[in-house]
Amino acid sequence: MMPLDQVLPPSAGVTPEGHLSIGGCDTVALAEEHGTPLVVYDEGLLRAVAREYRRAFDALAPDVEIIYASKAYFGQAMLRLAREEGMGVDVASGGELYAALAAGFDPARIYMHGNNKDAREVGEALDAGVGTLIADNLDEIALVDRLARERGVRQRMLVRVTPGVKPSTHSYIATGQLDSKFGFSIEGGPAREAVEAVRAAGGLELVGLHCHIGSQLFDFSGYAAAAAILADFAAECGGDDLRVMDMGGGLGIAYTRRDRPGAIEDYAEVVVESVRAEWGRVGLPMPRIMVEPGRSIVGRAGVTLYRVGGTKVVPGVRTYASVDGGMSDLMRPMLYGAVYEPLLANRADAEPTQTVRLVGKHCESGDVLVDEASLPPVGPGDLVCLPATGAYGVSMASNYNGVTRPAVVFVDEGRARLVTRRETYADLIARDV
Ligand code: LLP
Repeated sequence: MMPLDQVLPPSAGVTPEGHLSIGGCDTVALAEEHGTPLVVYDEGLLRAVAREYRRAFDALAPDVEIIYASKAYFGQAMLRLAREEGMGVDVASGGELYAALAAGFDPARIYMHGNNKDAREVGEALDAGVGTLIADNLDEIALVDRLARERGVRQRMLVRVTPGVKPSTHSYIATGQLDSKFGFSIEGGPAREAVEAVRAAGGLELVGLHCHIGSQLFDFSGYAAAAAILADFAAECGGDDLRVMDMGGGLGIAYTRRDRPGAIEDYAEVVVESVRAEWGRVGLPMPRIMVEPGRSIVGRAGVTLYRVGGTKVVPGVRTYASVDGGMSDLMRPMLYGAVYEPLLANRADAEPTQTVRLVGKHCESGDVLVDEASLPPVGPGDLVCLPATGAYGVSMASNYNGVTRPAVVFVDEGRARLVTRRETYADLIARDV
């Protein structure tokens, strides 16, 4: 048993040489072949989690639509995998839409989000035949209506509602509260106004409501609270057009050995049973439920391998170990204070004996990946693995300091395949005219 058992993919193991292996592949060999930083996804786990979602919801309600929130990681290999596993897809921009279409998604199963979809993006969605747009403000409702009527189509719409629920998570990833840039608040009337605006628009067809209360949630009570508020709102709106209730994403994952995320099964039960109970309470028929998981599909399956370069001791203060990536491939520690726990991939069986600050290579003091990392002695050439970097890692990557974005490999049953090549220096200047 490894101490990070609950954080690493379940396929993680230690080879006879003491190397960390994932999906039956030696990570030291992967790093040698593909270079570092390297993002490694356990494909078997990605598929297993997708199937677990399907099974959990199928056991509770017949036709729950599970859509993958592509913002968590929108590589083509992942999008194709999500499609093969029967998921729909949530896109939040024209770029994510382009990626989803390129991966072969049926446009009818694409759901487009965003608090500022511009005319070009809306036009692209309508021309592609995107199934559903999620309305975020009144200007957008007018825009989509106009562009749909110009094309002689009726666009299916969900109205994104902020129920006024404030879940316990970082404020940057809480979205259900009243004061949010996303969606229409019920309080004060904007949500009601949006429902009526969509109903009145000749180019639009209202199909239901959407809410996303936040991300990285361990406590599911926010879903039940949101369902109660949304059921009252649906009853107040009347009509038989609110057939879909999209409950968003948000299921959290373990980043450290102390984190205890809830099970997919329990999350599914809270979502389905609270919608069933609350719609029953207000005397409405059960809507078709949708969920939009992102992080919980890809987070645990992905790890990042970094090569240690320089180390230094600041006497009486601490030891620093620098790696060859940092905030350009993983923004979460800097942006949200997210805590990760590393392990040494080339001596995975060695006991941690020291506390070091694991830092990136960027010209920025805040470029700290792990503030207090427990590691065995580390020096130049060692390979550090940061588990649970599969969500919002490469999808939020940048080229700060001209650092090239990492390659991505998928591993499964002892086989590895490169799915995204490392960026080159030439890529860095390719767009400069
Ligand atoms: N649906 C909507 C409308 C969303 O806004 C999000 C995430 C999701 C679904 C997926 O949520 P998930 O299941 O992944 O929690 N960059 C941040 C997370 C931002 C989440 C944005 N919206 C982070 O790294 O923690």
